[in-house]
Amino acid sequence: MTTDTISKPYSDELQLTSPSWQHGEVELLCVEKWHETHDVISFRFQGAQPVKFQFKPGQFLTFKTEIDGQLTYRSYTISSSPSRPYSIVVTIKRIEGGVVSNHLADSLNVGDTITATGPDGVFNLVDIKADRFLFLSAGSGITPMYSMSRWLTDTQVGADIAFLHCAKSPEDLIFKSDLDRISLNNPAFKLSLILESGADQIESTLACESGRINAGNLQSLVEDFHQRTIFVCGPEPFMNGVKSLLEEIGFDMSMYHQESFGGAAVTSEAAPGAVSEQTDFMLSIGERRRSMSQDQSLLEGIEAEGLPIIAACRSGVCGACKCQVLEGETESSSQMTLTADEIAQGYVLACSTKMKSDISLAL
Ligand code: FES
Repeated sequence: MTTDTISKPYSDELQLTSPSWQHGEVELLCVEKWHETHDVISFRFQGAQPVKFQFKPGQFLTFKTEIDGQLTYRSYTISSSPSRPYSIVVTIKRIEGGVVSNHLADSLNVGDTITATGPDGVFNLVDIKADRFLFLSAGSGITPMYSMSRWLTDTQVGADIAFLHCAKSPEDLIFKSDLDRISLNNPAFKLSLILESGADQIESTLACESGRINAGNLQSLVEDFHQRTIFVCGPEPFMNGVKSLLEEIGFDMSMYHQESFGGAAVTSEAAPGAVSEQTDFMLSIGERRRSMSQDQSLLEGIEAEGLPIIAACRSGVCGACKCQVLEGETESSSQMTLTADEIAQGYVLACSTKMKSDISLAL
């Protein structure tokens, strides 16, 4: 795959003595851009001013960028490891109708700068402690698992890692050659795959099954999965399926952790104003009224009204879209970043909340 790079933006000495970036806003310079697959692109950044990046393996960044005159925020998992702190890599999949992902894939090039904030996220190796891992991913959900694996193998902490990745076909395998290399150099790193098609094209030395994940292929690829802490990331239907499967087969769910960005891809990145026709409830925000279908999130209504809200992850993970329900009934699929007090006061995450009645909302 083609790689675009920029010559070193500053000297070794400046780089080695650079301060750490640990939190807050940072200006990034894109120094490398390459295709991982036909629709997945990685971007390597350095600080526009030299910095060493400190983050927890598995965390995400939020990009702030202007698209058609509108300021947009979107979160992406860091796919590189903090064991290699002089640059940071973000890996982005093109999404049909995805406003931000496709804009970045098309328009962000080597030599360009972009503002980012973070790092954020509790789906990481510091906040979740374990020593035997099962990283279970689908599609671009592989990015945090890759960062965590790089960290665990770079730092040689003796972690026991089963890495099971699900993809549509061999052409959709992200980081395949890097994972092969990690596997080769680390006997305690066991890579296996489940492919919807083309499993027969995978080298015979690699454990690979056809179809989709189920109790049978999980057991045969990772026999001791019951003894492992499981990290799951991928599209919403995949995670729901894996969660139900593990519950059904009696897995200890206290050892289960998941994260997803943009699972409902088209909806989650739909252009403002793209709302469905079905009308069930009235959303009131100050003086504004909007008819909403029960399938729509509060975020869709807020954006369709053109009201200011930061929605970075659109998946109930970053907490940026917090708002308060003053009246009415809602249902939330995530309250991940909210405190018990905030929940008691009616705060919800707009991206993860749907209406069960007419509601009145404060931003
Ligand atoms: S946009 Fe991140 S929690 Fe809603």
